Amino acid sequence: MTVDFSTLPAWVNKAFYPLWFDRNRFIVCKGGAGSGKSMDAHRRVLYRMIAEPGHNYAIVRKVGRTLSISCIPLIRQCISDWNLGPLFAENKSNQTVTCTTNGNQIKFLGLDDIEKVKSITFERGPLTDVLIEEATEITEQDFNQLNLRLRGQSKVPFQITLLFNPVSDTHWMKRRFFDNPGEKRDKITLHESTYLDNRFLDPEYKEELEALKYEDRTYYEIYCLGKWGSIGNLVFRNVVYQRCPYTSNEFDQIIAGQDFGYNHRNAIELIGLKDGDKYSFRELYVRHLVNSEIIAENEARHILSKKQRCIADSAEPKSIKDWQQAGYTMIAAKKGPDSVKAQIAELNRGTWYVDPVACPGLVSEIATYKWREDRDGNPLDEPVKFRDDAIAACRYAVEELDMKKTAWVL
Ligand SMILES: Nc1ncnc2c1ncn2[C@@H]1O[C@H](COP(=O)(O)OP(=O)(O)O)[C@@H](O)[C@H]1O
Ligand SMILES: [Mg+2]
Repeated sequence: MTVDFSTLPAWVNKAFYPLWFDRNRFIVCKGGAGSGKSMDAHRRVLYRMIAEPGHNYAIVRKVGRTLSISCIPLIRQCISDWNLGPLFAENKSNQTVTCTTNGNQIKFLGLDDIEKVKSITFERGPLTDVLIEEATEITEQDFNQLNLRLRGQSKVPFQITLLFNPVSDTHWMKRRFFDNPGEKRDKITLHESTYLDNRFLDPEYKEELEALKYEDRTYYEIYCLGKWGSIGNLVFRNVVYQRCPYTSNEFDQIIAGQDFGYNHRNAIELIGLKDGDKYSFRELYVRHLVNSEIIAENEARHILSKKQRCIADSAEPKSIKDWQQAGYTMIAAKKGPDSVKAQIAELNRGTWYVDPVACPGLVSEIATYKWREDRDGNPLDEPVKFRDDAIAACRYAVEELDMKKTAWVL
Protein backbone atom coordinates (compact mmCIF):
# COMPACT_ATOMS: atom_id res chain seq x y z
CA MET A 1 0.00 0.00 0.00
CA THR A 2 1.30 3.48 -0.81
CA VAL A 3 0.19 6.66 0.86
CA ASP A 4 -0.06 9.82 -1.21
CA PHE A 5 0.91 12.88 0.79
CA SER A 6 1.18 15.25 -2.20
CA THR A 7 -2.28 16.58 -1.44
CA LEU A 8 -1.31 17.61 2.09
CA PRO A 9 -1.99 21.35 1.66
CA ALA A 10 -5.61 20.49 0.93
CA TRP A 11 -5.89 18.77 4.32
CA VAL A 12 -3.80 20.92 6.58
CA ASN A 13 -4.51 24.43 7.82
CA LYS A 14 -1.97 26.87 6.42
CA ALA A 15 -0.80 28.14 9.78
CA PHE A 16 0.15 24.59 10.78
CA TYR A 17 1.85 23.58 7.53
CA PRO A 18 5.40 24.59 8.62
CA LEU A 19 5.12 22.31 11.65
CA TRP A 20 4.98 19.30 9.36
CA PHE A 21 8.59 19.95 8.37
CA ASP A 22 9.84 21.32 11.69
CA ARG A 23 12.66 19.37 13.37
CA ASN A 24 13.14 21.50 16.46
CA ARG A 25 13.22 19.65 19.74
CA PHE A 26 10.34 21.63 21.25
CA ILE A 27 7.18 22.57 19.37
CA VAL A 28 5.10 24.77 21.63
CA CYS A 29 1.57 25.29 20.30
CA LYS A 30 -0.29 27.94 22.21
CA GLY A 31 -3.73 28.71 20.91
CA GLY A 32 -7.34 29.57 21.42
CA ALA A 33 -10.03 26.92 21.37
CA GLY A 34 -10.87 25.28 18.07
CA SER A 35 -7.77 26.53 16.28
CA GLY A 36 -7.00 23.04 15.01
CA LYS A 37 -4.07 22.25 17.31
CA SER A 38 -5.17 18.78 18.32
CA MET A 39 -6.35 17.59 14.94
CA ASP A 40 -3.18 18.82 13.27
CA ALA A 41 -0.84 17.35 15.86
CA HIS A 42 -2.49 13.92 15.83
CA ARG A 43 -2.47 13.82 12.03
CA ARG A 44 1.18 14.78 12.09
CA VAL A 45 1.84 11.85 14.39
CA LEU A 46 0.28 9.46 11.88
CA TYR A 47 2.09 11.08 8.97
CA ARG A 48 5.50 10.65 10.59
CA MET A 49 4.65 7.15 11.75
CA ILE A 50 4.04 6.06 8.17
CA ALA A 51 6.57 8.18 6.35
CA GLU A 52 9.57 7.85 8.65
CA PRO A 53 10.59 4.55 10.19
CA GLY A 54 12.15 4.99 13.62
CA HIS A 55 9.48 7.08 15.35
CA ASN A 56 7.97 5.94 18.62
CA TYR A 57 5.44 8.27 20.18
CA ALA A 58 4.09 8.79 23.65
CA ILE A 59 0.83 10.72 23.59
CA VAL A 60 0.50 12.11 27.06
CA ARG A 61 -1.98 13.78 29.38
CA LYS A 62 -1.75 14.50 33.06
CA VAL A 63 -4.59 12.15 33.97
CA GLY A 64 -4.42 8.90 32.03
CA ARG A 65 -8.14 8.39 32.03
CA THR A 66 -8.76 11.64 30.09
CA LEU A 67 -6.96 10.07 27.11
CA SER A 68 -10.04 7.95 26.48
CA ILE A 69 -12.19 11.05 25.89
CA SER A 70 -9.60 12.99 23.87
CA CYS A 71 -6.45 11.62 22.24
CA ILE A 72 -7.46 7.99 21.73
CA PRO A 73 -10.72 8.72 19.88
CA LEU A 74 -8.97 11.47 17.93
CA ILE A 75 -6.23 9.14 16.68
CA ARG A 76 -8.90 6.63 15.70
CA GLN A 77 -10.81 9.36 13.86
CA CYS A 78 -7.67 10.50 12.04
CA ILE A 79 -6.91 6.91 10.99
CA SER A 80 -10.42 6.48 9.65
CA ASP A 81 -10.59 9.96 7.98
CA TRP A 82 -7.54 9.05 5.96
CA ASN A 83 -8.59 5.44 5.32
CA LEU A 84 -5.42 4.26 7.00
CA GLY A 85 -7.05 1.33 8.76
CA PRO A 86 -4.86 -1.34 7.12
CA LEU A 87 -1.70 0.52 8.15
CA PHE A 88 -2.39 0.61 11.87
CA ALA A 89 -3.17 -2.03 14.47
CA GLU A 90 -4.60 -0.91 17.79
CA ASN A 91 -4.13 -2.97 20.92
CA LYS A 92 -6.81 -1.63 23.22
CA SER A 93 -5.68 -3.52 26.30
CA ASN A 94 -2.27 -1.85 26.47
CA GLN A 95 -3.26 1.39 24.69
CA THR A 96 -0.81 0.94 21.84
CA VAL A 97 -1.13 1.66 18.14
CA THR A 98 1.42 0.00 15.85
CA CYS A 99 2.19 0.87 12.24
CA THR A 100 1.95 -2.48 10.48
CA THR A 101 4.51 -1.67 7.78
CA ASN A 102 7.45 -0.48 9.88
CA GLY A 103 6.70 -1.30 13.53
CA ASN A 104 6.59 2.35 14.68
CA GLN A 105 4.40 2.67 17.74
CA ILE A 106 2.23 5.10 19.68
CA LYS A 107 1.62 4.58 23.38
CA PHE A 108 -0.95 6.60 25.31
CA LEU A 109 0.25 7.55 28.76
CA GLY A 110 -1.11 9.32 31.81
CA LEU A 111 1.45 11.11 33.95
CA ASP A 112 -0.51 9.98 37.00
CA ASP A 113 1.02 6.55 36.38
CA ILE A 114 4.65 7.56 36.73
CA GLU A 115 5.87 3.94 36.87
CA LYS A 116 4.44 3.36 33.42
CA VAL A 117 6.18 6.46 32.16
CA LYS A 118 9.50 5.31 33.58
CA SER A 119 9.19 1.83 32.15
CA ILE A 120 7.92 2.74 28.69
CA THR A 121 9.48 0.62 25.94
CA PHE A 122 8.69 -0.03 22.30
CA GLU A 123 9.00 -3.05 20.05
CA ARG A 124 11.67 -1.37 17.97
CA GLY A 125 13.91 1.43 19.13
CA PRO A 126 13.59 4.11 21.77
CA LEU A 127 10.95 6.72 22.57
CA THR A 128 11.55 9.52 20.06
CA ASP A 129 8.54 11.83 20.24
CA VAL A 130 6.17 13.06 22.92
CA LEU A 131 2.88 14.81 22.26
CA ILE A 132 1.50 16.50 25.36
CA GLU A 133 -2.18 17.39 25.06
CA GLU A 134 -3.58 20.13 27.34
CA ALA A 135 -0.03 20.75 28.46
CA THR A 136 -0.99 23.38 31.05
CA GLU A 137 -2.18 20.45 33.19
CA ILE A 138 1.35 19.16 33.70
CA THR A 139 4.02 20.43 36.06
CA GLU A 140 7.49 21.52 35.05
CA GLN A 141 8.80 18.46 36.88
CA ASP A 142 6.58 16.20 34.77
CA PHE A 143 7.94 17.90 31.70
CA ASN A 144 11.55 17.51 32.83
CA GLN A 145 10.98 13.79 33.40
CA LEU A 146 9.68 13.37 29.86
CA ASN A 147 12.42 15.52 28.38
CA LEU A 148 15.07 13.38 30.07
CA ARG A 149 13.64 10.27 28.44
CA LEU A 150 14.44 11.61 24.96
CA ARG A 151 18.14 10.96 24.65
CA GLY A 152 20.61 8.47 23.26
CA GLN A 153 20.75 6.98 19.80
CA SER A 154 17.86 7.43 17.41
CA LYS A 155 17.31 7.36 13.65
CA VAL A 156 15.08 10.43 13.82
CA PRO A 157 15.41 13.73 15.72
CA PHE A 158 13.75 13.78 19.15
CA GLN A 159 10.75 16.04 19.45
CA ILE A 160 8.29 17.14 22.13
CA THR A 161 5.09 18.90 21.11
CA LEU A 162 3.01 20.76 23.67
CA LEU A 163 -0.59 21.80 22.95
CA PHE A 164 -2.49 24.15 25.20
CA ASN A 165 -4.88 27.02 25.74
CA PRO A 166 -3.06 29.82 27.57
CA VAL A 167 -5.21 29.57 30.70
CA SER A 168 -2.70 30.93 33.18
CA ASP A 169 -0.27 33.80 32.67
CA THR A 170 1.82 32.60 35.60
CA HIS A 171 2.33 29.16 34.09
CA TRP A 172 5.84 27.68 33.97
CA MET A 173 5.53 27.23 30.21
CA LYS A 174 5.24 30.97 29.69
CA ARG A 175 8.46 31.59 31.58
CA ARG A 176 10.40 28.67 30.17
CA PHE A 177 9.45 28.90 26.49
CA PHE A 178 8.20 32.42 25.88
CA ASP A 179 9.75 34.87 28.35
CA ASN A 180 13.06 33.36 29.26
CA PRO A 181 14.09 30.50 26.98
CA GLY A 182 17.86 31.07 27.41
CA GLU A 183 20.20 29.27 25.07
CA LYS A 184 17.51 26.73 24.20
CA ARG A 185 15.76 29.45 22.18
CA ASP A 186 16.84 28.06 18.82
CA LYS A 187 15.57 24.59 19.68
CA ILE A 188 12.09 25.93 20.38
CA THR A 189 9.36 26.61 17.85
CA LEU A 190 6.68 28.88 19.25
CA HIS A 191 3.44 28.49 17.40
CA GLU A 192 0.34 30.58 18.00
CA SER A 193 -3.08 30.02 16.51
CA THR A 194 -6.71 30.99 16.90
CA TYR A 195 -9.99 29.74 15.50
CA LEU A 196 -9.41 32.09 12.54
CA ASP A 197 -6.56 29.78 11.46
CA ASN A 198 -8.92 26.81 11.22
CA ARG A 199 -10.86 26.84 7.97
CA PHE A 200 -12.54 23.56 8.93
CA LEU A 201 -14.18 24.82 12.12
CA ASP A 202 -17.94 24.40 12.19
CA PRO A 203 -19.81 27.73 12.08
CA GLU A 204 -21.68 27.14 15.37
CA TYR A 205 -18.43 26.77 17.28
CA LYS A 206 -17.07 29.90 15.62
CA GLU A 207 -20.15 31.84 16.68
CA GLU A 208 -19.88 30.50 20.20
CA LEU A 209 -16.27 31.65 20.47
CA GLU A 210 -17.08 35.08 19.09
CA ALA A 211 -19.99 35.40 21.51
CA LEU A 212 -17.52 35.11 24.39
CA LYS A 213 -16.69 38.74 23.67
CA TYR A 214 -20.01 39.63 25.29
CA GLU A 215 -19.94 36.83 27.87
CA ASP A 216 -16.62 37.14 29.60
CA ARG A 217 -13.44 39.03 28.83
CA THR A 218 -11.03 36.50 30.30
CA TYR A 219 -12.56 33.61 28.39
CA TYR A 220 -12.66 35.73 25.24
CA GLU A 221 -8.97 36.51 25.46
CA ILE A 222 -7.90 32.95 26.24
CA TYR A 223 -10.22 30.88 24.09
CA CYS A 224 -11.02 33.25 21.24
CA LEU A 225 -7.88 35.36 20.90
CA GLY A 226 -5.45 32.76 22.25
CA LYS A 227 -3.82 35.27 24.64
CA TRP A 228 -2.36 34.45 28.06
CA GLY A 229 -4.97 35.00 30.74
CA SER A 230 -5.70 34.10 34.28
CA ILE A 231 -8.94 32.44 35.21
CA GLY A 232 -10.21 33.71 38.54
CA ASN A 233 -13.66 33.79 40.10
CA LEU A 234 -14.05 30.03 39.88
CA VAL A 235 -17.55 28.77 40.62
CA PHE A 236 -16.76 25.61 42.55
CA ARG A 237 -14.49 25.78 45.56
CA ASN A 238 -15.70 22.71 47.39
CA VAL A 239 -14.41 20.06 45.00
CA VAL A 240 -12.08 17.30 46.16
CA TYR A 241 -10.65 15.01 43.51
CA GLN A 242 -10.40 11.46 44.77
CA ARG A 243 -11.46 7.94 43.90
CA CYS A 244 -14.99 7.27 45.11
CA PRO A 245 -14.84 5.22 48.32
CA TYR A 246 -18.37 3.82 47.95
CA THR A 247 -20.13 1.38 45.69
CA SER A 248 -23.45 2.56 44.27
CA ASN A 249 -25.57 0.63 46.79
CA GLU A 250 -23.81 2.31 49.72
CA PHE A 251 -25.17 5.77 48.88
CA ASP A 252 -28.21 7.26 50.65
CA GLN A 253 -29.50 8.28 47.23
CA ILE A 254 -28.28 8.54 43.64
CA ILE A 255 -29.26 11.42 41.39
CA ALA A 256 -28.54 11.74 37.67
CA GLY A 257 -28.65 14.38 34.96
CA GLN A 258 -28.12 14.59 31.24
CA ASP A 259 -27.13 17.46 28.96
CA PHE A 260 -27.67 16.64 25.29
CA GLY A 261 -25.10 17.45 22.66
CA TYR A 262 -23.74 16.47 19.28
CA ASN A 263 -21.06 19.03 18.44
CA HIS A 264 -20.85 19.71 22.14
CA ARG A 265 -20.41 16.83 24.53
CA ASN A 266 -23.40 14.74 25.46
CA ALA A 267 -22.95 14.29 29.19
CA ILE A 268 -24.64 12.00 31.68
CA GLU A 269 -23.50 12.45 35.28
CA LEU A 270 -24.37 10.32 38.29
CA ILE A 271 -23.97 11.72 41.78
CA GLY A 272 -24.22 9.65 44.93
CA LEU A 273 -25.33 11.37 48.15
CA LYS A 274 -23.96 10.26 51.47
CA ASP A 275 -24.00 12.01 54.83
CA GLY A 276 -24.67 15.41 53.23
CA ASP A 277 -21.81 15.17 50.72
CA LYS A 278 -21.88 14.54 46.98
CA TYR A 279 -19.86 11.97 45.10
CA SER A 280 -19.58 12.18 41.32
CA PHE A 281 -18.81 8.57 40.56
CA ARG A 282 -19.88 7.79 37.02
CA GLU A 283 -20.27 9.62 33.71
CA LEU A 284 -20.80 9.25 30.00
CA TYR A 285 -19.07 12.04 28.07
CA VAL A 286 -19.22 11.63 24.31
CA ARG A 287 -19.36 13.72 21.18
CA HIS A 288 -20.57 13.36 17.59
CA LEU A 289 -22.99 10.54 18.40
CA VAL A 290 -26.75 10.51 17.74
CA ASN A 291 -29.12 9.43 20.52
CA SER A 292 -29.40 5.81 19.40
CA GLU A 293 -25.58 5.53 19.46
CA ILE A 294 -25.36 7.21 22.86
CA ILE A 295 -27.98 4.84 24.24
CA ALA A 296 -26.03 1.87 22.86
CA GLU A 297 -22.81 3.22 24.40
CA ASN A 298 -24.58 3.76 27.72
CA GLU A 299 -25.86 0.20 27.67
CA ALA A 300 -22.49 -1.25 26.79
CA ARG A 301 -20.80 0.68 29.59
CA HIS A 302 -23.57 0.31 32.19
CA ILE A 303 -23.59 4.00 33.10
CA LEU A 304 -27.26 4.93 33.60
CA SER A 305 -29.75 2.22 34.48
CA LYS A 306 -33.27 2.31 33.10
CA LYS A 307 -34.79 2.58 36.58
CA GLN A 308 -32.62 5.52 37.68
CA ARG A 309 -34.48 8.84 37.43
CA CYS A 310 -32.46 11.18 35.26
CA ILE A 311 -33.22 14.88 34.78
CA ALA A 312 -32.42 16.05 31.26
CA ASP A 313 -32.24 19.32 29.37
CA SER A 314 -35.85 20.31 28.58
CA ALA A 315 -34.70 22.20 25.48
CA GLU A 316 -34.58 18.84 23.65
CA PRO A 317 -37.94 17.10 24.05
CA LYS A 318 -37.18 14.85 21.10
CA SER A 319 -34.05 13.51 22.77
CA ILE A 320 -35.94 12.97 26.03
CA LYS A 321 -38.50 10.95 24.10
CA ASP A 322 -35.79 8.89 22.37
CA TRP A 323 -34.47 7.85 25.80
CA GLN A 324 -37.94 7.23 27.20
CA GLN A 325 -38.81 5.02 24.25
CA ALA A 326 -35.64 3.06 24.92
CA GLY A 327 -37.02 2.39 28.42
CA TYR A 328 -35.22 5.04 30.49
CA THR A 329 -36.71 7.22 33.23
CA MET A 330 -35.76 10.49 31.55
CA ILE A 331 -37.48 13.58 32.96
CA ALA A 332 -37.41 17.13 31.58
CA ALA A 333 -35.67 19.68 33.78
CA LYS A 334 -38.01 22.36 35.12
CA LYS A 335 -35.55 25.23 34.77
CA GLY A 336 -37.48 27.76 36.83
CA PRO A 337 -36.38 31.37 37.28
CA ASP A 338 -32.91 31.58 38.82
CA SER A 339 -32.59 27.83 38.52
CA VAL A 340 -28.97 27.92 37.37
CA LYS A 341 -28.00 29.92 40.45
CA ALA A 342 -29.98 27.64 42.73
CA GLN A 343 -28.48 24.49 41.20
CA ILE A 344 -24.97 25.86 41.57
CA ALA A 345 -25.67 26.78 45.19
CA GLU A 346 -26.78 23.21 45.77
CA LEU A 347 -23.65 21.79 44.11
CA ASN A 348 -21.54 24.13 46.23
CA ARG A 349 -23.07 22.91 49.46
CA GLY A 350 -21.08 20.37 51.48
CA THR A 351 -18.09 18.70 49.91
CA TRP A 352 -18.27 17.58 46.30
CA TYR A 353 -16.03 14.58 45.74
CA VAL A 354 -15.27 13.99 42.07
CA ASP A 355 -13.69 10.73 40.97
CA PRO A 356 -11.12 11.73 38.31
CA VAL A 357 -10.88 8.22 36.90
CA ALA A 358 -14.62 7.74 36.52
CA CYS A 359 -15.48 11.35 35.56
CA PRO A 360 -12.64 12.85 33.48
CA GLY A 361 -15.04 15.04 31.51
CA LEU A 362 -16.41 16.69 34.62
CA VAL A 363 -12.90 17.18 35.99
CA SER A 364 -11.82 18.92 32.78
CA GLU A 365 -14.70 21.42 33.05
CA ILE A 366 -14.65 22.26 36.75
CA ALA A 367 -11.11 23.64 36.71
CA THR A 368 -12.05 26.53 34.42
CA TYR A 369 -15.74 27.06 35.22
CA LYS A 370 -16.03 30.65 36.34
CA TRP A 371 -18.48 33.41 37.09
CA ARG A 372 -18.99 36.13 34.51
CA GLU A 373 -17.30 39.36 35.44
CA ASP A 374 -18.22 43.01 35.11
CA ARG A 375 -15.84 45.48 33.46
CA ASP A 376 -13.81 45.78 36.63
CA GLY A 377 -13.39 42.04 37.01
CA ASN A 378 -15.94 41.66 39.80
CA PRO A 379 -17.91 38.42 39.67
CA LEU A 380 -21.55 38.52 38.54
CA ASP A 381 -23.90 35.84 39.78
CA GLU A 382 -24.04 34.04 36.45
CA PRO A 383 -21.50 31.49 35.20
CA VAL A 384 -19.88 31.73 31.76
CA LYS A 385 -21.68 29.36 29.44
CA PHE A 386 -18.71 27.62 27.85
CA ARG A 387 -17.29 24.10 28.23
CA ASP A 388 -19.98 23.28 30.74
CA ASP A 389 -21.72 20.18 29.42
CA ALA A 390 -20.87 17.83 32.30
CA ILE A 391 -21.57 20.62 34.78
CA ALA A 392 -24.96 21.25 33.17
CA ALA A 393 -25.75 17.54 33.63
CA CYS A 394 -24.83 17.85 37.34
CA ARG A 395 -26.98 20.97 37.64
CA TYR A 396 -29.97 19.11 36.24
CA ALA A 397 -29.25 16.17 38.54
CA VAL A 398 -29.60 18.31 41.68
CA GLU A 399 -32.96 19.58 40.49
CA GLU A 400 -34.10 16.17 41.67
CA LEU A 401 -33.33 17.35 45.20
CA ASP A 402 -35.46 20.45 44.67
CA MET A 403 -38.39 18.18 43.88
CA LYS A 404 -37.92 16.64 47.28
CA LYS A 405 -38.35 20.13 48.76
CA THR A 406 -34.81 20.56 49.96
CA ALA A 407 -34.41 24.17 51.04
CA TRP A 408 -32.00 26.13 48.84
CA VAL A 409 -29.28 27.95 50.63
CA LEU A 410 -28.25 30.87 48.47
N1 LIG B 1 -6.99 19.82 9.34
C1 LIG B 1 -8.28 19.69 9.64
N2 LIG B 1 -9.12 19.08 8.78
C2 LIG B 1 -10.43 18.97 9.05
N3 LIG B 1 -11.03 19.43 10.17
C3 LIG B 1 -10.25 20.03 11.06
C4 LIG B 1 -8.84 20.19 10.86
N4 LIG B 1 -8.33 20.82 11.92
C5 LIG B 1 -9.37 21.04 12.75
N5 LIG B 1 -10.52 20.57 12.23
C6 LIG B 1 -11.88 20.67 12.84
O1 LIG B 1 -11.87 21.72 13.79
C7 LIG B 1 -12.27 21.25 15.07
C8 LIG B 1 -11.43 21.90 16.15
O2 LIG B 1 -10.11 21.49 16.00
P1 LIG B 1 -9.22 21.01 17.24
O3 LIG B 1 -7.99 20.40 16.65
O4 LIG B 1 -10.00 20.21 18.17
O5 LIG B 1 -8.89 22.43 17.89
P2 LIG B 1 -8.06 22.76 19.21
O6 LIG B 1 -7.34 21.53 19.63
O7 LIG B 1 -7.16 23.85 18.79
O8 LIG B 1 -9.08 23.21 20.21
C9 LIG B 1 -12.10 19.74 15.01
O9 LIG B 1 -13.03 19.09 15.83
C10 LIG B 1 -12.30 19.43 13.56
O10 LIG B 1 -13.68 19.25 13.31
MG1 LIG C 1 -7.43 20.56 21.48
